[in-house]
Amino acid sequence: MALDKPYQNIPGTIIFDADQARKGYQLNQFSMSLMAPENRERYLADREAYLDEWPLTPAQRQAVLDLDLNAMMAEGGNIYFLSKIGATHGMSFQQMAGSMTGMSEAAYRDMMIGGGRRPEGARLKDLDGWTPPSTEKSEVMRPDAPARFTSALFTSHVPAIGAAMDLGKTEEPYWKKVFAGYEWTRTWARENTPDVIILVYNDHATAFDSNIIPTFVLGTGAHYPVADEGYGPRPVPDVKGYPELAAHIAQSVIQDDFDLTLVNEMVVDHGLTVPLSLVFGDVEEWPCRVIPLPVNVVQYPVPSGRRCYELGKAIRRALDKWDGEPLNVQIWGTGGMSHQLQGPRAGLINQEWDNAFLDHLIADPMGLTEWSHMEYVDEAGSEGIELVDWLIARGAMDDQFGGGAPEVNHRFYHVPASNTAVGHLVISNPVAVVDTAAADAVEFAVEERADEAEITPEQAREAEVPA
Ligand code: DHB
Ligand code: FE
Repeated sequence: MALDKPYQNIPGTIIFDADQARKGYQLNQFSMSLMAPENRERYLADREAYLDEWPLTPAQRQAVLDLDLNAMMAEGGNIYFLSKIGATHGMSFQQMAGSMTGMSEAAYRDMMIGGGRRPEGARLKDLDGWTPPSTEKSEVMRPDAPARFTSALFTSHVPAIGAAMDLGKTEEPYWKKVFAGYEWTRTWARENTPDVIILVYNDHATAFDSNIIPTFVLGTGAHYPVADEGYGPRPVPDVKGYPELAAHIAQSVIQDDFDLTLVNEMVVDHGLTVPLSLVFGDVEEWPCRVIPLPVNVVQYPVPSGRRCYELGKAIRRALDKWDGEPLNVQIWGTGGMSHQLQGPRAGLINQEWDNAFLDHLIADPMGLTEWSHMEYVDEAGSEGIELVDWLIARGAMDDQFGGGAPEVNHRFYHVPASNTAVGHLVISNPVAVVDTAAADAVEFAVEERADEAEITPEQAREAEVPA
């Protein structure tokens, strides 16, 4: 089941993939800096001094000083980035390419005039024992996979919820009712902390603006700062990524026909930080790594629920191909539920539709993929379209690969938080050994209090929400 990288064996060729890009990140960014005339001038005036400004490895630095393009490629450089170095030294592409062949400049030029290098003997398929790579997509899960997808968690990500926490308003009656729905989850999350969360959300014109509108972004970086969305950055920890796993997912998912946009550096907005705060509370550091996966739902056309579900399936295939360290992986889907933030119809809430969405998400995800954009927007408000994000986590679950149906651990629905209906769901794959005892005890205590006082559990929670 190992990941296919058939291109790795093409003779005399280094393919620039996410792993190479990670290795060569600083080298390639240094090369790009030479696109500015003033930087070229400084570099040529004192190459050592200019290189001191870049955190290159000793091997990368030496390769640049030697103008050794093969060595730069081996250290993660890519020829289109590196060509900025060559150009700065006045080299043509023919001189650069020729310099890597071991031929003299004249011999290489003459070879090109003579029709170029012949492919025979220089191809992978000419090597002994070569077989074409399989393009089959697995529809069954891998038993005992080192990366275990344990639980899917879904939640609204209303920014006012984050503000209520940051400004110490969680004890106010309005907010108590919202946070009561996350008591179970807080306890559960302490007992079932994953190693990594693939956190699906939508960026709200924060990291991405009208310059670039990527449909599906995968965060392949090591670190994501918390965004300033106009109120100042939230006072919560920055996010630690997982570049190795993200590169692996990118490799597998793109081979699975999904054209992800890979982003190494971006800020993360309330769509990502509010769910982390809801589940993990006020912490100095988030207890696990996070791979951000923002989906465009700002500018139409946005991806369909079906497409999101299929992306989830591709992500699961990627997880099943992971042969690295054992991992407990959760996938979260955030946004929604019904809300409309614009125009005369602002404030629209559709409780029946939201609950039908939750029912189908649990028991009929394939049926849910038939619901069109129009349906989301018409029934759940223009910003209710955020709910397509939730289909990604669901598509990755065991029962979509011949495994058992998920267990429903926790479900909560409340109106309102700000303009939005808050929905929250935790469901787990059978492979997950999910410890819900402590969390269930919290819920049980609430029910006991309600029984004794002859009030509803909701009223009991409001009366006393443990910190
Ligand atoms: C609100 C909800 C959102 O999901 C969002 O991104 C922004 C605002 C709200 O209800 O105020
Ligand atoms: Fe939102």
